[in-house]
Amino acid sequence: TATYAVQGPLSGKKIVVTAGGTIERIDPVRYITNDSSGKMGIALAQAAQDLGADVKLIAGKVQVALPPGIPTLRIESAEDMYEACLNEWGKTDMLIMSAAIADYRPKSSSPRKIKKVGDTMALELVKTVDVLQTLGSQKEHQFLIGFAAETHDLDTYAAEKLQRKNCDLLVANDVTQTGAGFGSDTNIVRLFGPEGRIADLPKQSKYDTARDILLEASRRLEKGAV
Ligand code: CTP
Ligand code: CA
Repeated sequence: TATYAVQGPLSGKKIVVTAGGTIERIDPVRYITNDSSGKMGIALAQAAQDLGADVKLIAGKVQVALPPGIPTLRIESAEDMYEACLNEWGKTDMLIMSAAIADYRPKSSSPRKIKKVGDTMALELVKTVDVLQTLGSQKEHQFLIGFAAETHDLDTYAAEKLQRKNCDLLVANDVTQTGAGFGSDTNIVRLFGPEGRIADLPKQSKYDTARDILLEASRRLEKGAV
């Protein structure tokens, strides 16, 4: 493997980016998932690398190609995502949780295909591990970036999530706005810090959005926000 140093505001920083949706298995041929395309997470990983960081991408189910030049670990479930993040946790300077992790998973996953039997079928779900909240509660030197995709009361939920998950920066978007939803090539986000609302970024490509988020994070890292 070739080693090369890129000069940039994030050079020397180890950054872990999570992207895509998780898959929570019902049986070997069926699962619960969500609409995440992985585009925002991939843009963050690419932009972080372009700004000089040493990036590791942890990807769930994505609907686009993964960047060949970024070391990537593929995972399936919320539990896998937790394990993968925990594994990187001690050596990472920044964790960016852009993945859309399922909130619930089937209580039991059948090793064999479930056969069609009755006229109705109930699926019991249990809460998954909250990766960001769990790691946030044991934060040391890590700079933590959380996301919140909302349809209503954006500011209230964003502030509440930043506090509850002990984030240093929270990226919120109103997914009902045109050009900000799942699968879109653009995004419109609002940034929050522990002090409250920081900035409203314009509608722009996910790459440019990612770059602005990372530049804000880098300024805060330098000021010793953590
Ligand atoms: N997150 C996580 N683990 C989960 C669920 C969410 O790490 N099991 C992370 C997401 O990656 C995101 C942040 O927490 O960075 C906020 O996710 P979100 O779904 O908006 O928050 P929830 O706490 O799950 O609240 P709700 O879905 O009820 O709005
Ligand atoms: Ca959720």
